[in-house]
Amino acid sequence: GKFRALTLFGSLALILSGCGQENLSALIPKGYGAEKSLDLIILTAVIMLFVLIIVMILYVTVLVRFRKKKGQKDFIPKQVEGNKTLETIWTVIPIVLLIIIAVPTVTATFDLADQSEASKSLNVEVTGNQYWWHFNYEGEEIQTSQDLYIPTGERVYLNMKSSDVIHSFWVPAISGKMDVNPENENTMFIEAYEEGVYYGKCAELCGPSHALMDFKIIAVSPEEFDQWVEDMKNVDPEAVAEGETAQQGQALFQESNCMGCHAIGSSPVQVGPNLTNFGERTQVAGILDYNKENLISWIMDPESIKPGNKMTGKYPDLSEEEASKIADYLMQLKPSSITPEDAGK
Ligand code: CUA
Repeated sequence: GKFRALTLFGSLALILSGCGQENLSALIPKGYGAEKSLDLIILTAVIMLFVLIIVMILYVTVLVRFRKKKGQKDFIPKQVEGNKTLETIWTVIPIVLLIIIAVPTVTATFDLADQSEASKSLNVEVTGNQYWWHFNYEGEEIQTSQDLYIPTGERVYLNMKSSDVIHSFWVPAISGKMDVNPENENTMFIEAYEEGVYYGKCAELCGPSHALMDFKIIAVSPEEFDQWVEDMKNVDPEAVAEGETAQQGQALFQESNCMGCHAIGSSPVQVGPNLTNFGERTQVAGILDYNKENLISWIMDPESIKPGNKMTGKYPDLSEEEASKIADYLMQLKPSSITPEDAGK
């Protein structure tokens, strides 16, 4: 009893705190869609609680009042059936409750599906892949992977497709989930109220590394976003790296089939994540702390980190020294003066 209660409260505390990770809770909304969802969560929870309390009161009353009393012989109480008034009441009350839930739910559903301003706004093409996300800023020659930069206080319209199986785009603090399908395009808009780094999860079982298909929304002020766009547009993919090891890493990157899948700068190539601003990422492969050691481990043995990923076996075996040089190069890719730390303020 005590232990179960502890587990329950423990899990509840975890859910409320967003599993210990900041900005990963639907209960602490920082965006339009999440706020709408929370309103509905509270409304339905209150109604459910109301129903639960009434039912429990009736249940306990019946248990106490009609229990077998001491010394009482077995007997069958008077059987009653058919009571128009009672039946009407327990039919009408649920109908009323369902209407109270349905009206705001349907209203919010249509509200969140509104695309009337889409053509005048920032549109981002989102592609879900096993096990990473690609973002293509429509009308701008900008692509990123894993980190979706957006300006605060504006609706950003997402046009979403998958390159393989069904995924689901979910950034709990910003918005509800949206399925990302291989066949048909789904659309949604997101709006972040405050600057910040918001954690996203794939919410549809999509293979062995489904649980590791994390990504981020990085919301910055509109001015910082414009700066970021400028910086990203001015990337020179050919720019020579600084320092001997990084230059050797750049050469290795170009010779070792890396570029067959990974683009630097704007490119139609998106077999693997675009690495234009890799040096500004806050995590390696979306899940590991961002440091050189982890990057080397990832390059040398991605299969042990994200089982089933498509990088495994696609390039020649690299020595640790070679992987280290490539890491030196990739960690230098910092084209923008706007960093995720700016959003973290
Ligand atoms: Cu993609 Cu789960």
